[in-house]
Amino acid sequence: MTRTAIETVVFPVAGLGTRFLPATKASPKEMLPVVDKPLIQYAVEEAIAAGARTLVFVTGRTKRALEDHFDMAYELETELAERGKQDLLDKVRDVLPEGIHCVYVRQREALGLGHAVLCAQPLVGDKPFGVILADDLIDAGDRPVLKQLAERYAATGRSVLSVESVDPSRTRQYGVVEPEKRDGPFQPIRGIVEKPAPEDAPSNLAVVGRYILTPRIFKLLETTAPDSRGEIQLTDAIAALIDEQGVDCLEFEGRHYDCGSKLGYLQATVDYALNHHELGADFAGFLRERVRSL
Ligand code: UTP
Repeated sequence: MTRTAIETVVFPVAGLGTRFLPATKASPKEMLPVVDKPLIQYAVEEAIAAGARTLVFVTGRTKRALEDHFDMAYELETELAERGKQDLLDKVRDVLPEGIHCVYVRQREALGLGHAVLCAQPLVGDKPFGVILADDLIDAGDRPVLKQLAERYAATGRSVLSVESVDPSRTRQYGVVEPEKRDGPFQPIRGIVEKPAPEDAPSNLAVVGRYILTPRIFKLLETTAPDSRGEIQLTDAIAALIDEQGVDCLEFEGRHYDCGSKLGYLQATVDYALNHHELGADFAGFLRERVRSL
């Protein structure tokens, strides 16, 4: 198998985001800010750190805000330049570094994550690619998870996805893998099940939104039947990929925030604010006072 570098990363951002309505009525949940950057920007920075040069956004009805975020903002930039606000101008321009190419494809109906990934096929072509779900925010310090997955792919040529151990009572919220062993961070997986009941779960290792996939996944997605809710699940196509080519998982080190849920989003906001270079100290002072009065 050829081991091409991972140059393309797909960002499915076409979900309905119902858990965040009405905030997600007119803009995708991936545009929700954690302190001062939208979730999608953290994801894009992770992709670029992993070597990506082409970013494919699979968008839905609310694509405007997202396209604008990664586009030039002539009026804003002119205004900031005229006012001599170079630091702010740099922040706006740094959103997308030179040489990075953004492309957009529409998922006309939210028919599931697997369907969203399949929509990216014409833009990805016959190459391995990454997938990041921006609402799964991961703080892994100087070891970004997608970079670790890309390095593993480079060494093995096999698809690889990130997992973390969750409380066994929560397996219904995730895709859950059956690892061959648990004696190291990377493991081949024997199987994967979408949202199993705790008693049916093959382990407590849940898939978190980072994947490197071989292009074979597209053929498998084309023949994946919709589930009982009419959605095409990426998990089902990965199950078929395990049988055909083998797939590995990485139990990563780092903190994962489920920013698709309000609680996870608030936890991320608090932690990122505490770590923020400008406001961390003041925010910590505020929190100390606040906690004392609870
Ligand atoms: P979620 O399972 O969190 O669904 O999607 P959702 O619709 O975004 O949110 P809720 O559950 O209604 O609150 C996981 C990821 O897959 C994308 C989402 O944008 C998110 O990044 N997705 C999901 C799509 O792009 N298309 C889909 O049809 C479904």
